[in-house]
Amino acid sequence: MVNKIGVGYASVTELEKKYVMDALDNQRLSQGKYVAAFEKKFANMHGHKYGIMCNSGTSALHLAMEALREVDGWNDETEILVPAITFIATSNAVMHAGMKPIFVDVHPVTYNMNPDEIEKHITEKTKAIIPVHCFGMPCDMPRITAIAKKYGLRIIEDCAEAHFAKVNGQTIGSFSDIMACSTYVAHTITTGVGGVMCTSDSALMEILRSLLAHGRACSCERCIASDANVVCPKRMGTEIDRRFLFVRLGYSYRVGEMEGALGLGQLERIDEIMGARSHNAQTLIDALTPFEDKIQLPRHPENVEHTYMMFPILVRGNSGIDKEDFIRYLEKHNIETRPMLSLLNQPIYKKIFGDIEKQYPVAEYINHNGFYIGCHHGLTEQDLQYEIRIISGYLDESGHSGKEPS
Ligand SMILES: Cc1ncc(COP(=O)(O)O)c(C=O)c1O
Repeated sequence: MVNKIGVGYASVTELEKKYVMDALDNQRLSQGKYVAAFEKKFANMHGHKYGIMCNSGTSALHLAMEALREVDGWNDETEILVPAITFIATSNAVMHAGMKPIFVDVHPVTYNMNPDEIEKHITEKTKAIIPVHCFGMPCDMPRITAIAKKYGLRIIEDCAEAHFAKVNGQTIGSFSDIMACSTYVAHTITTGVGGVMCTSDSALMEILRSLLAHGRACSCERCIASDANVVCPKRMGTEIDRRFLFVRLGYSYRVGEMEGALGLGQLERIDEIMGARSHNAQTLIDALTPFEDKIQLPRHPENVEHTYMMFPILVRGNSGIDKEDFIRYLEKHNIETRPMLSLLNQPIYKKIFGDIEKQYPVAEYINHNGFYIGCHHGLTEQDLQYEIRIISGYLDESGHSGKEPS
């Protein structure tokens, strides 16, 4: 039996180690030149003017909500559209910022927010849409942006699960007023813990920087100390040094220089990382295609570049396969599985929203029939062949009758 095949993987090479060691040698642990370099590069790669690094994807979403609430005058009645399948942090962040998430059912093939389902949820209280690009698969951004334009809604993209995926050649994250991203360990580009926001609006950038550092007045990039020897002239123009002048109720969501150093190294390796994932996913798809009458594989339209943060599998309702038995079998054979981001059936959401899962039939179907496995860049050809052998073995008749595949 091979080693456990996990769903995620963090690869740290000599490059990241060199940057981290340099950050340590510089004796600077709070954000400095590496955070600044990571922010600039990340923003640039997403066609945005400003990147702002923070301590998690959840913080990034929360601050995006708070900043737009401040600028647009949103209130506690404001409704924000979110998909009925996503990691719980997306809709939690809406509530952290004191607003109401309104769920939209997802598409049965892409698993992302279904554009056909959006308009029926729009009311005069709706102010924004959060498309979440789940499992590496981009949302239908041309249709979502058209709907947002028609109703004058903001877009905040949650890009945590689909780093650098593309629609019509355009990188996701570039379709929104603010994009939010996680770089937590399970994610494709990782800094251990971390998050990033990008925007091209300088007013929003200043508010985001202020909010992540206790609400301080001084939020321009020079004060983020890319060079400790530079003293920003704006800083000393007030009675209290603007770094210690607090103008809004902020948070402590900052990140450190080592995360910046790790992130910069990872960004320089994205072709290698994404290339390996794409190869792995394609190998799994090709080998499992004969079983497509029993399981739904991740398929995407031609105009989309999928970045396979994970490999979702949906057991078809008429397949005669018991999903629970299938995942127990995979786990027993050292292949890690996870639920496909079930949300509305979570105990805490049942408590807050009641029993609403039935109103979202596609999400409900995914909650009950879906799971995912890993296709990450740490897998060897041997690992992939093992995954294929175990899955195929189960799906063959011998697997159904509970016999071990040979
Ligand atoms: C879609 C999505 N949004 C937000 C987050 C939250 O990111 P973090 O764990 O960095 O707070 C995650 C994390 O897994 C996620 O998958």
